[in-house]
Amino acid sequence: MLQPELKRYTEANRAAWNEVMPKHQLAAKEKWDTLFSQPSYVSLADHEVKLLLQIGLKGKNVAHLCCNNGVELMSLKNLGADTCVGFDISDEAIKEASERATLCGIDCQFVRSDIYEIDAVYSNRFDIVYISAGCLGWMPDLRFLFEKAAALLTKDGVIFIHEIHPFSEMLPFDNSKTSDTLRIIEPYFKEEPYIEKGGLDYVGNSEYDAATTQYWFIHTISNILMGMINNRIRVEHFSEYEIDISAGHHQIETMKAGIPLSFILIGKRIN
Ligand SMILES: C[S@@+](CC[C@H](N)C(=O)[O-])C[C@H]1O[C@@H](n2cnc3c(N)ncnc32)[C@H](O)[C@@H]1O
Repeated sequence: MLQPELKRYTEANRAAWNEVMPKHQLAAKEKWDTLFSQPSYVSLADHEVKLLLQIGLKGKNVAHLCCNNGVELMSLKNLGADTCVGFDISDEAIKEASERATLCGIDCQFVRSDIYEIDAVYSNRFDIVYISAGCLGWMPDLRFLFEKAAALLTKDGVIFIHEIHPFSEMLPFDNSKTSDTLRIIEPYFKEEPYIEKGGLDYVGNSEYDAATTQYWFIHTISNILMGMINNRIRVEHFSEYEIDISAGHHQIETMKAGIPLSFILIGKRIN
């Protein structure tokens, strides 16, 4: 059973995501339903698709951790992946993803589960574990996340991470009303989580009085790399980009100020 101190965070985050998902849906559900009704629609950025195709997706079994509304996993399916299973803790996100898969006739399975509690039935089944924008920060224990991810992989399986760069978490978000966008206002090294209420509607940009509290953890690049290495995952690729995938640093991206805003990290299970 999951330790109560981890569960305290992950269940609070589950409630926060269930609270915000109807707002995301109001702003974007129809758009995604229409886009994925087109055959072979892919929502992923070109530089990401290029690397995914280099690894090879055709015939691969893919697990997506923190899959939210399913559009990224459906893109991987449309790029040629075989079995696709998405895991997410939010009941509302999984409901939306499952409904969209049925509506659009895309063969993906969506499972409501805390990443830390994914059933052992999924162990050693996936060629690729995929993690995308805004997953790692919800994880109170990074070492344990990589342990779970590694357990899902077949021998020689690959972890593909396309994430928000932790360096960018030191800078103000676009909505912070500061004129000094490049001022460092937060530490890079931070043990305790940010504790926040609301502010999760980065899709519809509505402000709301949240009934829930969320916990967001900063994981440094070294901790992410060591999380892989300590779980016998060999780092095979690492690249950094001035592209904002957080929906909060568009101003910095536009300035082209030389700030790392996102990264792609790929590793292979070595036993
Ligand atoms: C920012 S969203 C991911 C967004 C996705 N990359 C996209 O762009 O649509 C983060 C997701 O992580 C999920 N999540 C947070 N903590 C989780 C946990 N412990 N286990 C599984 N999913 C979790 C949330 O429910 C939410 O759907």
